[in-house]
Amino acid sequence: MNFKKKILCIGAGYVGGPTMAMIARKCPDYKVTVVDINPARIAAWNSADIPIYEPGLDEVVQEARGRNLFFSTDVDAGIREADIIFVAVNTPTKTFGEGAGKAADLQYWEKTARQILANSEKGKIIVEKSTLPVRTAEAMERILNTNDKGLHFEVLSNPEFLAEGTAIADLEAPDRVLIGSRETPEGLQARSEVVDIYAHWVPKKSIIESNVWSAELSKLVANAFLAQRVSSINSISALCEKTEADVGEVAYAIGTDSRIGTKFLKASVGFGGSCFQKDILNLVYICQSYGLTAVADYWESVVKLNDWQQQRFVQTILSSMFNTVAGKRIAVLGFAFKADTGDTRESPAISVVRNLVGERAAVVVTDPKALPHAKADLKDLGDTVEFEDDVYKACEGAHAIAILTEWKQYKDLDFARILKSMQSPAFIFDGRNLLDHQALYKMGFNVFAIGKSPLRHF
Ligand code: NAD
Ligand code: UGA
Repeated sequence: MNFKKKILCIGAGYVGGPTMAMIARKCPDYKVTVVDINPARIAAWNSADIPIYEPGLDEVVQEARGRNLFFSTDVDAGIREADIIFVAVNTPTKTFGEGAGKAADLQYWEKTARQILANSEKGKIIVEKSTLPVRTAEAMERILNTNDKGLHFEVLSNPEFLAEGTAIADLEAPDRVLIGSRETPEGLQARSEVVDIYAHWVPKKSIIESNVWSAELSKLVANAFLAQRVSSINSISALCEKTEADVGEVAYAIGTDSRIGTKFLKASVGFGGSCFQKDILNLVYICQSYGLTAVADYWESVVKLNDWQQQRFVQTILSSMFNTVAGKRIAVLGFAFKADTGDTRESPAISVVRNLVGERAAVVVTDPKALPHAKADLKDLGDTVEFEDDVYKACEGAHAIAILTEWKQYKDLDFARILKSMQSPAFIFDGRNLLDHQALYKMGFNVFAIGKSPLRHF
């Protein structure tokens, strides 16, 4: 088949896989190849058991795979044939050297730049899909365009705004697609080629064009603003618990002001996920490096509040269970950082379980999709933590239940049956305000939720 253009994506992770599957679905006239250095991941993308759990993704992959969507480990061949290369490799927080703990670790990113150069026989459009510090495109351009082959590369920024768990819906009908480029004739030409891809299904008014620096920075700022809303409502949850105000009622009352809006105001045990913390810390580091200390401190407080909220949850468990959980069985329901994903990166469940184990609690973890990752995250704790597929078995003999992920199925559990199988007094700590607290209290549970007055029988 003759394809109009050949697109390559380097990095077959949570972003590269779903975004390219959607592009392949919507653009049957383009060949889309996704490459990765991890052979197990590529093998999984080529199998019936794709490597990430994302509602609706299976169907999209099955429709396009083998037609115009291909997964491969041959990065070099992919580069050689591509006209447009998206780079969606991981950009974690640096753990060493200058900027450790805050700055983005760009080693994977830079390696791809050098690999692109080594394997290119013609100039190409390079699209930053990974989330990167503002002005990364400049470094990328330097690496790529300082070549003795006479090749010219245009570096664009097209950050991804999908959220895990709703990735397919987000990709199918995005609020907006952002494409930033240099404002030179070559830059604008490259920009229009990337716009053409999305214009296959995204209305033109939802495709925002900007300069490349605005696009890079907007991605970090979008995540910072979203996370800031969660930390803001979580800070108020603590005040609600002291004052008999109810955080759900407060969120509703303020959210109905259209200037504030209702979304992203759900108080919780804290935000998790691979990006919020990393991207805010990256923003903090960038501000610090420009000498903007007040700005850096402002954004860093969003992350500090999030850490505090997670610690506060464990303190509530401890103080309400008579200041000791040593030897007590605590069933942790949900380990993923949010519902509808198996991803546990930076999940609040990790720190909550670790702190409970530190208090010598006998923790049992259950989750419908995330147990394999949970086991890997807690490997160093050995058999001090139990993992159980069956949620009812996890609760058997427990003194307390902690809800850490808002899986819908937990709402429909037979709590009367669970209560009978538990130790008395039985506690529920609802870190996601998921359950019907009054009903559970009437049944006999002592119920502690985020930002609500405790319901206890003693
Ligand atoms: P991920 O770790 O799931 O995937 C990255 C993949 O890149 C891995 O499979 C890795 O093996 C591969 N890789 C690394 N170096 C490579 C190289 N030199 N050649 C080929 N493959 C290589 O990460 P992710 O969650 O998909 O995130 C990727 C980027 O997208 C990050 O910058 C992240 O901040 C951003 N982002 C993520 C999300 C999300 O929801 N996860 C959303 C928006 C943006
Ligand atoms: C987030 C952004 O929503 C995406 O737009 C962005 O593309 C992505 O980060 C990224 O750059 O990686 P994601 O982390 O997948 O997406 O999931 P979110 O839905 O944003 O949830 C993040 C965390 O905040 C979860 O732990 C969630 O439970 C928590 N949260 C969210 C709350 O505690 N309260 C809320 O009201 C909303």
